[in-house]
Amino acid sequence: MRRIKITWAKPGDILGYPIFRKDGAILLNIGVKLTEAYIQQLKELGITHIYIQDDISQDIIVPDPISIETRMEALRVIEDNFHRSCKGLPLDVESIRSVVNSIVDEILSSDQILLNLYDIKSFDNYIFSHSLSVTLISIIVGRKLGYNDKFLRDLGIGCMLHDIGKLDVPKEILDKPDRLTPEEFEIVKFHTHYGYKRVREQDRDIPATSSHIALDHHERYDGSGYPRGLKGEKIHIFSRIASIADVYDAMTTDRVYRKAYSPSDAMEFIMGGSGTLFDYNIVNAFVKSIAPYPVGDIVLLSTGETAIVVDVNKDFPLRPIVRVLKEDRWEDVDLLKETNISIFKSLEE
Ligand SMILES: [Fe+2]
Ligand SMILES: [Fe+2]
Repeated sequence: MRRIKITWAKPGDILGYPIFRKDGAILLNIGVKLTEAYIQQLKELGITHIYIQDDISQDIIVPDPISIETRMEALRVIEDNFHRSCKGLPLDVESIRSVVNSIVDEILSSDQILLNLYDIKSFDNYIFSHSLSVTLISIIVGRKLGYNDKFLRDLGIGCMLHDIGKLDVPKEILDKPDRLTPEEFEIVKFHTHYGYKRVREQDRDIPATSSHIALDHHERYDGSGYPRGLKGEKIHIFSRIASIADVYDAMTTDRVYRKAYSPSDAMEFIMGGSGTLFDYNIVNAFVKSIAPYPVGDIVLLSTGETAIVVDVNKDFPLRPIVRVLKEDRWEDVDLLKETNISIFKSLEE
């Protein structure tokens, strides 16, 4: 399968990955043949990219770090807990723990090194899919850093709930299409305090270090973050990991006020902040955990040709194997061997 912009989709294209509703249920499943009406509906829902299967991409497998079932369950659990918290009910910590356990088990049992799959955002669930991606990325990075499964589970629970304080921020501010005023930004910053309060107050089953992710995921290594301006090791390792996952996922998502950055551009930003905004060691593990040119992506080569990323070269993420599109055929080129060709840019923006 390969990833295309929704504006490139045409009737007859076969869906390569499901489109989820915000409650985790599937809106359109793998294998569905797109019609003009479906494409129109997806556009209206604000979906910008989809995965399709076609002749040229038939044998391209985009590895997903977790199964579709676990992904659906996790989205359902996040939504359910946000609703509970909104209504003043205690969190169902058991449901969170159980799905995080499945996620950790699946990630630990896969030999996959790099996160390749774009988060499949559905239309109106930014906060739910974002919570799940931050959880996945953090666990993958934590694994790369060599931490054990207990560490990864506690990290995961906190990440699932890291933005729950957004429930306390007025919707008009969260969805505002233009730049926030300084006053509005002050209100947004408060989601950290609110979130911590919601997680800490409602259940004592969550380790304190996990709940602190809600409070500290916007802290920056050099002390320039919020809400407390904590510095260096004063920020718990969970929050130092989550802050990178959070920035990466936010940057690679289309928002009402700006277009998404490509994975390679977002990675460049994070690498640029290594040692200042972000913990150097974690950035190192992060760049080894995420594919800058994910499998299935369309890229422009230095030769001027267009290609699809077919597979990654484990230790050389910038030099994957690509399928070059020629006039009437295609040809697979291993950029590790063809060192005179490089990827100029991703055509995903
Ligand atoms: Fe946040
Ligand atoms: Fe976040």
